Amino acid sequence: MHGVKLFAPASIANISCGFDVLGLCLENIGDIMEIRRSEKAGIHITSIKGQVLPLEANKNVAGVAGLALLEAHNPQLGFEIKIEKKIKPGSGIGSSAASAAGTVAGINYLLGNPFSPSELIPFAMEGERLACGSAHADNVAPALLGGFTLVRDTNPLDVCKLPTPLELAATVIHPKIEVKTSDARAVLKQRVSLEKAIKQWANVGALVSSLYEEDYALLSRALVDEIVEPSRAILIPHFAKIKDACKAAGALGSGISGSGPSVFALSRGMTNANKVAQAMQEVYKDTDIPFEIHVSPIKQSGVSILEILK
Ligand code: HSE
Repeated sequence: MHGVKLFAPASIANISCGFDVLGLCLENIGDIMEIRRSEKAGIHITSIKGQVLPLEANKNVAGVAGLALLEAHNPQLGFEIKIEKKIKPGSGIGSSAASAAGTVAGINYLLGNPFSPSELIPFAMEGERLACGSAHADNVAPALLGGFTLVRDTNPLDVCKLPTPLELAATVIHPKIEVKTSDARAVLKQRVSLEKAIKQWANVGALVSSLYEEDYALLSRALVDEIVEPSRAILIPHFAKIKDACKAAGALGSGISGSGPSVFALSRGMTNANKVAQAMQEVYKDTDIPFEIHVSPIKQSGVSILEILK
């Protein structure tokens, strides 16, 4: 087996109450990558379509993640990577995580799967460290494991995969403005009142329970962020209007996707998720901000192998 073509999925981190710990994997949005064995040791990124990003392995999230895997497995091996970027960097739906997860999952597959999907997470986290300075796992975990994930700790890494209610669907609006993750983290308050902390961990617990019980009403009540969203809302134009429109259109809840600027909503069923997309569009269509909207089921598994390449 010399090469693979794969789908590296986008993801939504935080999911309202779970800042830096919860994430989910999207089915319809993701990058396409080709990974082939190379005679030359190391990682060689030979083409990136769709975005202007560095080809040098040590400056590219895919390269850094791949090198971390090779360092742990066998630094003498070599791989060539082609990336078709469909997820825009800086959109808030795990663009860097998709490239990093796709790389390590593809190399692992070509090596005969010496690592489990969970064991690949630390390598992909190195890509996140390059992208924004902090090696968080709330996007790479769902991109590699699929479904919903909870990062209980990063040191040592302890990630739980959670069940996904089958009818759940996501709608994401991406306003095409730049919100750097580092800036979105800089606006956060470093201290949290006990009152807010109690509400937040109650909602995280309730959200996890709602996934196990397929309790959409409880999920809806738990999609509340008492701590991060109030500080970040100012970074996203028309945020309050979008939230109101999602609610009026029947969404279970909505919030900032990762560090923004994308806003996500969760709905019961694709029909409802499409109605929410329409409502989001109504809010943005008369503004001068370009945007795109995605509607997607939750992807049950992480990176998918599409084709074996000769
Ligand atoms: N949990 C991170 C944040 C995700 O919200 O800052 C950033 O990709």
